[in-house]
Amino acid sequence: MKSKERILVVDDEKRICDSIRLLLQRKDYEVFVANNGEAALEFLNKEPIDLVITDLMMPKIDGFALLEQVQKSYPHTLVIVITGYSSMRSSIEALRSGAYDYLVKPFDLDILSLSVEKALDKIRMRRMHDDFISMMTHDLKNPLTSIIGYCSLLVGGVYGELPQGLTTPLTGVQDNADRMLALINDFLAVNRISSEGVRLDKQKHSLNVLAKHLLEGQRAQAEIRKIKLNLALNSKLPVIAYDAMQIERIIGNLLSNALKFTPPGGSVTVSTGIAEGEIFLRVSDTGAGIPADQQENIFERYKRIESRTEGTGLGLYICKTIITAHGGHITVESKEGEGSTFTFYLPISD
Ligand SMILES: Nc1ncnc2c1ncn2[C@@H]1O[C@H](COP(=O)(O)OP(=O)(O)OP(=O)(O)O)[C@@H](O)[C@H]1O
Ligand SMILES: [Mg+2]
Repeated sequence: MKSKERILVVDDEKRICDSIRLLLQRKDYEVFVANNGEAALEFLNKEPIDLVITDLMMPKIDGFALLEQVQKSYPHTLVIVITGYSSMRSSIEALRSGAYDYLVKPFDLDILSLSVEKALDKIRMRRMHDDFISMMTHDLKNPLTSIIGYCSLLVGGVYGELPQGLTTPLTGVQDNADRMLALINDFLAVNRISSEGVRLDKQKHSLNVLAKHLLEGQRAQAEIRKIKLNLALNSKLPVIAYDAMQIERIIGNLLSNALKFTPPGGSVTVSTGIAEGEIFLRVSDTGAGIPADQQENIFERYKRIESRTEGTGLGLYICKTIITAHGGHITVESKEGEGSTFTFYLPISD
C-alpha cells in the first residue's frame, strides 16, 4: 500500500487549522495540527513530516524561526507559509529564506490545494531518487560482506595454510573491502539524514562509559599502528539524555580520523569535561593536523584536505549534523604537523 503524504499545519488560529485540515484530509493526506511553533518543533522531532504549512505571525517561535529550524534539521521537509494581506513583504522574505511557496490570507482553498499538490510532487520525485540510492547501496553491501567474510576465513587459515606470499595481498583485499563497506555505510547515513533529518531517541546515558568502551574497541588497531591511547575522564560528569547510537557514531568517526591521520609513535587522547551549561567530549591527537585555512569548512559534505585522499569526507559532516540535532556544537583546533583536537558539546539542560 502506498504510504500517505504527511502534512503538518501550524497556526495559532484554530479556525484556520481546522479548515485546512478538513480540505487536505478529504484529499487523502495524513494531516496533523500544531497551534504554535513550539508544539510544531516538538512534533517534528518525533514524527517524519513531508510538508509544513505554517502561519508566519505566531507568538514566541514564529513562522520564520520554524522555517529556519526545519531547514536545518529536516532539509527534505518543504514549507509553505501563510501571511496576512498587509504583510506581503514577509512572504517574499520567507521565499528568500527557503520557503517553497506562500499563501496570502484569506486564501482560496483551490489555490491551497494546487500549492500543496506541487510541493508533494517535488517530494515524491526526491523520494524515488533517495529510494533508488538506498536500494543500490544496500545491494552492494551483501556481496561485499561476503568478500570480507571469505578473506578473513582465508587469512585465518580455515581453508588450510596459505601458500607463501599470499597473506599480504589477501590482507590488502580485506582492508580495501572494509574501507568500501565503511564508505557505503557513510553514504547510507548521509542519504538517510538528508531525506528524513536526524530523529533522536534520547535516553539518559553516561558519556564516560561510552567513551571508555569505544576507546577500548580501538586498542588492537592502535597497537598494530603503534599509537598510544589515553583516557582522561571527568568523574563528576553529569549523566544527560542523548541518542547513544548517534553519539557513538560521532565518537567513532573522531577516533577513526585521529588514528587514520596520526603516524606511528603518536598518541590519541579522549577526555570529557564540564563547560558552562554543557558537557563535552574531546578527541586529541598528535597527528598530521589540518591547515588553518581549511579548518572552517572541514565539517562540510565531501570536504577533505586536498593533499590527502584516504576517506570520503562525510564523517565530520555526519558528526556536525548529529550534534546540531542534539542542540550541541562541535569545534576543531589544529596545528599542521602538531596535531588536532575535536570537541563536541552537549547541553546539560536536557
Ligand atoms: N584528526 C585529524 N587529523 C588530521 N586531519 C583530519 C583529522 N580529522 C579529519 N581530518 C581531515 O578532515 C577531512 C574530513 O574528515 P571526515 O571525517 O569528514 O572525512 P574522511 O575521514 O576523509 O572520510 P570518512 O570519515 O567519510 O571516511 C579528512 O579527509 C582529513 O583530511
Ligand atoms: Mg572520517
